[in-house]
Amino acid sequence: MADRNGWGRDRPVLTGSPRSPPPSFVEQANVTDPGIYDEFEENWPECWEQAADLLSWDQSYETVLRDEEAPFYQWFPGGKLNAAANCVDRHLESGRKTHTAIRWEGKHGERKTYTYQDLYVAVNEFAAALRDLGVEEDDVVTIYLPMIPELPIAMLSCARIGAPHSVVFAGLSADALATRMDAADSEYLVTCDGYYRRGDAFNQKSKADNAQLKLEQDVRTVVVDRLGDDLPHVLGDDEYDYHGLRETFAGETIEPVPRDAEDMLFLMYTSGTTGEPKGVVHTTGGYLAHAAWTSHAVLDVKPEDTYWCAADIGWITGHSYIVYGPLALGTTTVMYEGTPDYPDRDRLWEIVDRNAVDIFYTAPTAIQAFMKWGSEYPARHDLSSLRLLGTVGEPISPRPWNWYYEHIGNERCPIVDTWWQTETGAVTVSTLPGVSEMKPGAAGPGLPGMDIRVIDESGTEVDPGDSGYLTIARPWPGMVRTLYDGDERFRTEYWDRFSDPDTDEWHYFSGDAARVDEDGYITVLGRVDDVINVSGRRLSTTEIESAITGVAGVAEAAVVGRSSETNGTDVYAYVSTEGGYDDDMAVREAIIDNIETAIGPIARPTNILFTPELPKTRSGKIMRRLLEDVANGEELGDTSALRNPEIVGEIQAEIGEE
Ligand code: WTA
Repeated sequence: MADRNGWGRDRPVLTGSPRSPPPSFVEQANVTDPGIYDEFEENWPECWEQAADLLSWDQSYETVLRDEEAPFYQWFPGGKLNAAANCVDRHLESGRKTHTAIRWEGKHGERKTYTYQDLYVAVNEFAAALRDLGVEEDDVVTIYLPMIPELPIAMLSCARIGAPHSVVFAGLSADALATRMDAADSEYLVTCDGYYRRGDAFNQKSKADNAQLKLEQDVRTVVVDRLGDDLPHVLGDDEYDYHGLRETFAGETIEPVPRDAEDMLFLMYTSGTTGEPKGVVHTTGGYLAHAAWTSHAVLDVKPEDTYWCAADIGWITGHSYIVYGPLALGTTTVMYEGTPDYPDRDRLWEIVDRNAVDIFYTAPTAIQAFMKWGSEYPARHDLSSLRLLGTVGEPISPRPWNWYYEHIGNERCPIVDTWWQTETGAVTVSTLPGVSEMKPGAAGPGLPGMDIRVIDESGTEVDPGDSGYLTIARPWPGMVRTLYDGDERFRTEYWDRFSDPDTDEWHYFSGDAARVDEDGYITVLGRVDDVINVSGRRLSTTEIESAITGVAGVAEAAVVGRSSETNGTDVYAYVSTEGGYDDDMAVREAIIDNIETAIGPIARPTNILFTPELPKTRSGKIMRRLLEDVANGEELGDTSALRNPEIVGEIQAEIGEE
């Protein structure tokens, strides 16, 4: 394969023994009829009306799908709706005012509960404040907040007035924030004074300030006071206190702005194959319908549930499955600010127990950590309220899968291993928990209505058992519509490789490799592009490399992923310095510093290996694929085509000494 990353490295080669959905679950599941697959197939794309029907529309759509301008698809065109009205207002009208919408669990044991009525009040007041600050329909509002209730409140307030939000993960650096605000021409920012990380007060506002120094546009900033007296809360010009604004606009209501189904609901920046992050555009109708429908059909969410997706809202998982999906269905969504091991390693299970959580959705990295810590932690708590478990973000091997099934689910809860991406908007591959057999290590078949294909270089579907590129051969409602930075990049990133415009055949390429079995179950093997997935977070190796080469004295760098027990993949950096080999502590520190400044601590390499040269082809291309094999201790193929084959041995010797 021409791709740079190996396929299937350290991935489950075999799937575990299949398990049937527990009958107690099936009895009550939202979807139980296996006929749903045929029903969607026979009635495609109108089948997706089932998803649209979960929403309240101000004006009904003209048609389900418009595909004349593929790959620029339109879902439910002509329809009008407001996402905030769907996630909040309509639940008041249906008599659920006092039902809990958000249950917030703070880092230090603080708790807050927002009923749908409370959320309605908060969203209206803050929407009024945003308007007053000058935010108009279609202005991009950047939100740079940790996991506090003001984050979903700000998102929904934007949605209410038709201003797309761009949430930037709070742990990203000032530079990363500036790049995203610049790319989106965003003139409004919602941030906070700081937040607690492992007990310490951490200054978020200073990062936001530093980002603004790099921006040409003037920015109006709203600051949430999260830390009270722990950090001084001094506001400058064009800075507004969130709580002060809420008081000023207390009791105000704002009519939700009816948006076209295809109007942008939000932008989400994610790593792509180049250093520039991609601004993934999601729309109001298709995205919300898909997020709501998958919450219903895959996560089995019911309005009376207490549902917990233990992700961060700063990434797509939190957008779709902490905020939009569950709130559209009127359930109680749990939001947790802290980490799983603070104050102790049973923190999550204590929250499940105390809140009688019905559904729990997390990432394989977390499950691996729970497994390592030991089953005594969950065993301290009553987890019998749980009905369904989910995973997302990385492949899960049969061992952690079985551990999760046994120790968290007590063999009563089905597990959904959900494959999807920032770009797919919502789940696209997964079993239906009340219908399908589960195979530990395989995510499952495409959801009803999805046309998932694993293909080879020529576009032919591979045989069961073989691996290939994971592609999607038919549009779906939650799909990315374009990239904010341009339609051209949208086509090159996702469509050009496997589509044929002449025959009007469009195949979305996910950037992942996968294997498919005889039942159509997909085992995801990992990325095949310049993206690595560290603890379920997407990082661009190109972006990390450019942070490294920005350090004085560094000549060249190559960043690869190394399989890791704890993180799925670790960042492994090869660096050559100017003027020959020089493994200098100062350079090492400067590299880490630069990476943390450019991206954030999540991109910090676990290893930095200094080498006099990087292995290159005769045409001068760095052989990253080979370097990845070296980092992973793989057998190497023929290296004779290299211009400098001897360097490989030197690097291997160096690693051997580590
Ligand atoms: C990976 C997160 C295996 C995959 C929702 C994908 C997975 C990338 C799974 C998207 C899964 C996600 N099994 N791999 N169940 N789910 N991935 O955009 O490589 O942050 O392309 O979206 O995560 O990451 P993103």
